[in-house]
Amino acid sequence: YGSLATKIQRNPSFSALNFDDVNYFKSILGEKNVIQDADKLLSANTDWLRKYKGSSQLLLLPRSTEEVSQVLKYCNSRCLAVVPQGGNTGLVGGSVPVFDEVIINMGSMNNITSFDKVSGILVCEAGCILENLVSFLDSEGFIMPLDLGAKGSCQIGGNVSTNAGGLRLVRYGSLHGSVLGFEWKNQSHLGFQSLFAAVGENLVLLPAAPGIEAVLANGDVLDMLGTLRKDNTGYDLKHLFIGSEGSLGIVTKVSILTPPKLSSVNIAFLACKDYFSCRKLLLEAKRRLGEVLSAFEFLDNESLDLVLNHLEGVRNPLPPTMHNFYVLIETTGSDESYDKEKLEAFLLRSMEGGLISDGVLAQDINQASSFWRIREGVPEALMKAGAVYKYDLSLPVEKMYNLVEEMRTRLGNSAKVIGYGHLGDGNLHLNISTPQYDDMILAQIEPFVYEWTSKHRGSISAEHGLGLMKANEIFYSKSHRSLISARVFLMQSKAEIGSALRWPTSWSGFTLEQV
Ligand code: FAD
Ligand code: MLT
Ligand code: ZN
Repeated sequence: YGSLATKIQRNPSFSALNFDDVNYFKSILGEKNVIQDADKLLSANTDWLRKYKGSSQLLLLPRSTEEVSQVLKYCNSRCLAVVPQGGNTGLVGGSVPVFDEVIINMGSMNNITSFDKVSGILVCEAGCILENLVSFLDSEGFIMPLDLGAKGSCQIGGNVSTNAGGLRLVRYGSLHGSVLGFEWKNQSHLGFQSLFAAVGENLVLLPAAPGIEAVLANGDVLDMLGTLRKDNTGYDLKHLFIGSEGSLGIVTKVSILTPPKLSSVNIAFLACKDYFSCRKLLLEAKRRLGEVLSAFEFLDNESLDLVLNHLEGVRNPLPPTMHNFYVLIETTGSDESYDKEKLEAFLLRSMEGGLISDGVLAQDINQASSFWRIREGVPEALMKAGAVYKYDLSLPVEKMYNLVEEMRTRLGNSAKVIGYGHLGDGNLHLNISTPQYDDMILAQIEPFVYEWTSKHRGSISAEHGLGLMKANEIFYSKSHRSLISARVFLMQSKAEIGSALRWPTSWSGFTLEQV
């Protein structure tokens, strides 16, 4: 498992790195931002799950848009493949090289450019770590519209490029709603014409409003940094980049709409006897807590066990009776007593109606963090338990947990099957834990899990992206027709997308002849 790279061939039309290349990069970035140190390369070549490993000999740390531009321009001219990298917390093998691509890590571009306290619009460089943005905004009385367990390492550029969902999507929506624009660099190794310029030939597509900028493959900068909430002047190209996982270019700056920080946050950790109760509870929460609901997360008993057994200092806040499911509900509002009263009334009603078997309301901020630690700690606990086969699925909420049960039946005692995730968004994280990777177990899981998801009209990637792991599986969620249309659009725009090294097969691999 994780040996996908051995099943695909390095595209021989890409050049191999030489001394002149390295010297050129040093002349642009300075010696210390051109990394050849073996330990640093090892960690940049290895993903968070320690499942995917590239063999890049070079890590570059550009400090400005101009430097990214120069690097890409050079790579383009030399036909050197590159992989953009943020905090390297991605879970689908997209953030590390497949072969020997040059790694362009955005961590040195970590400045906040501006923050407008009236509109709540933050403009910052792509390498800003999410948690640092959260702290900055906190001091200004605002919050980030997204939050995830990887916040201490992931970067906003990586979040935008993966269209990260996370723990509060149920309240603030996806990044398609809150990112107002960003600056990017086209990383295409072959395409020298800009999407804008080329489309413009046919359709007269103009950057919509003042302040939009982007950078082309040839190094030209196009600024798409919109800071307007509303702007309907033509196509909104930034949406192509949100979730494009580095296949269209390197995001260098982001402008994002941030909500004000509200004074009253309440968190409850609840137990439910069965999945049906969790579902009913979700419906009730949406109906009765609607305007204050800010998170609705769930985990099964097997997930809780993993966390309690593998993470230090984590304990079950409920008395030690076995429950099948746990739900974490958070409300965020502006009236302390009203919000609390509302939540308490909801909990009482749900308890009386049998939807909740037990529960506890956080009494202070420490207890609130300890509840979150349980939910956010599941991925870390899985890593400590051994090998993990990770699936991130969008499914109709009614059917979602059937898959976990079917998988348990399929795998018997050979693996631990756990289910947790963002129930409020219909997003299941199905994870299978074994002492070590085993191809026989993998063959029991795939393609079954993808076929099941497709049969139930779900998505094989709710929020983590395709990466290398699922590049070949896109057809389970997207029709050939829609992929061909996207490809044709891009080809007609004369925009060469992605690097064949990064997207070795399927969806970026269409040619007009195939169409
Ligand atoms: P990386 O992992 O470095 O890269 C991810 C992808 O984006 C790669 O394809 C890379 O090439 C590309 N990329 C990175 N930066 C740029 C850039 N500036 N320009 C262009 N392309 C770029 N994800 C969720 O959606 N929801 C969660 O709740 C969630 N929780 C997580 C919890 C843990 C503990 C961990 C380890 C991961 C979690 N993730 C979650 C997955 C991951 O953290 C997110 O996908 C995150 O957005 C990746 O950001 P990053 O900076 O680490 O990007
Ligand atoms: C989460 O919700 O915890 C993340 O998406 C990570 C994971 O799926 O393990
Ligand atoms: Zn998640």
